[in-house]
Amino acid sequence: MEPSEEPIVARLSGLVQVLLLITVALALVVTTVLIQLYWPNTAAPAVSVANEASQGPPPPGSYHRPATPAPDTATIPRTAAGWQIRYGRNLIAHTARYLGPQGSVAHLTNGMNCQNCHLDAGTKGFANNYLAVAATYPKLRARSGTMVTTQLRVNDCIERSLNGRALDDSSREMCAIVAYINWLGHDIPKGKKVYGTGFTKLAYLPRAADPIVGKAVFAAKCQSCHGPNGEGKPQADGREYQYPPLWGRHSYNDGAGLYRVTNLAKYVKAAMPFGTTFDHPQLTDEQAWDVAAFVNSQPRPHLNTPRDWPNISKKPVDHPFGPYTDSFSARQHKYGPYQPIEDAHPQLAKAN
Ligand code: HEC
Ligand code: HEC
Repeated sequence: MEPSEEPIVARLSGLVQVLLLITVALALVVTTVLIQLYWPNTAAPAVSVANEASQGPPPPGSYHRPATPAPDTATIPRTAAGWQIRYGRNLIAHTARYLGPQGSVAHLTNGMNCQNCHLDAGTKGFANNYLAVAATYPKLRARSGTMVTTQLRVNDCIERSLNGRALDDSSREMCAIVAYINWLGHDIPKGKKVYGTGFTKLAYLPRAADPIVGKAVFAAKCQSCHGPNGEGKPQADGREYQYPPLWGRHSYNDGAGLYRVTNLAKYVKAAMPFGTTFDHPQLTDEQAWDVAAFVNSQPRPHLNTPRDWPNISKKPVDHPFGPYTDSFSARQHKYGPYQPIEDAHPQLAKAN
């Protein structure tokens, strides 16, 4: 063995050792990252399936039971499917950034976000939440007289509430929205009702809801955020609203669900002024009805809906447009009093 050989071998083996160490360290890092990304998160979702039937109806006039909670977003799986769900959630919360007048994906909608009406990305109790959708769609709807899929229902809101143009069923955006909505309801058994979906209950007034009284309610309780002309206020970068519009050309059109005074009154009672929860409403019933009448008496885009209500006897009592099967005026249908109309159509009573 030459005197110089030993050090070379020692150096070589030292190099091999370092290389080995680096390889092992790299492999560890890569494995950890891969596990983080692709290992399905199997933690049990925090949904208690509060089905109304098993809990019994809440005491009259009182809603002090918590609404069914949505699953925790931390449990969205870290998989490709999980990323789709997260994209769907972003589309709901910040629709305009993707699909609005300055949207990054397409320009299809009026600048509002789904979340403007479906609060907390469609999870807030009695603020239009989505928890029942996975369990109840496709379903037969009287408005269209047909079976309605979740995709169709989403497009209904895009064309009416967002006064826009429909998404392709196969588009990346529609698939993501539906994936998110289905994830929200994944733990609810098919066909079960969930407490906190739909609207809060609100007793009819014995009189018509009054837009003139409602105007004063608006000035006192809504105008500070939604603006003196209900025009709302864009965020600083102009790509979505800080306060969404309540009427005018950037608002929901007259084919939208909120254009029915009963829907708007119930929504506002449970959710507005912003921050209100359904169990601590801030408006009296009268204020909710009158402000809804005022907001829906203001101008907004018109949508032709010749195919709505193929069976007109199924129109809800407060449907603002004829033809009707009774002789109550369109004005009474729109603003009430609703009880006499309901009495004339007992089969519609449960719709309230
Ligand atoms: C201007 C308010 C508003 C906006 C904005 C809005 N919606 Fe809606 N949405 C409603 C109302 C009100 C209802 C229920 C009304 C009804 O059934 O007539 C509803 C119902 C739904 C339902 C059915 C819920 C159920 O339990 O049956 C889905 C799904 C839905 N919206 C999805 C969306 C999506 C997705 C967006 C955004 C692309 C959106 N909505 C934007 C007001 C809105
Ligand atoms: C403190 C500010 C604030 C006040 C006061 C307020 N809102 Fe809102 N409102 C909001 C915000 C913010 C949203 C959208 C929520 C979101 O995107 O998460 C909203 C959404 C709405 C929506 C659904 C979206 C739309 O533009 O159609 C309606 C309807 C509404 N508010 C009506 C009212 C009425 C009626 C009052 C008065 C009784 C009122 N709001 C008072 C902040 C407010």
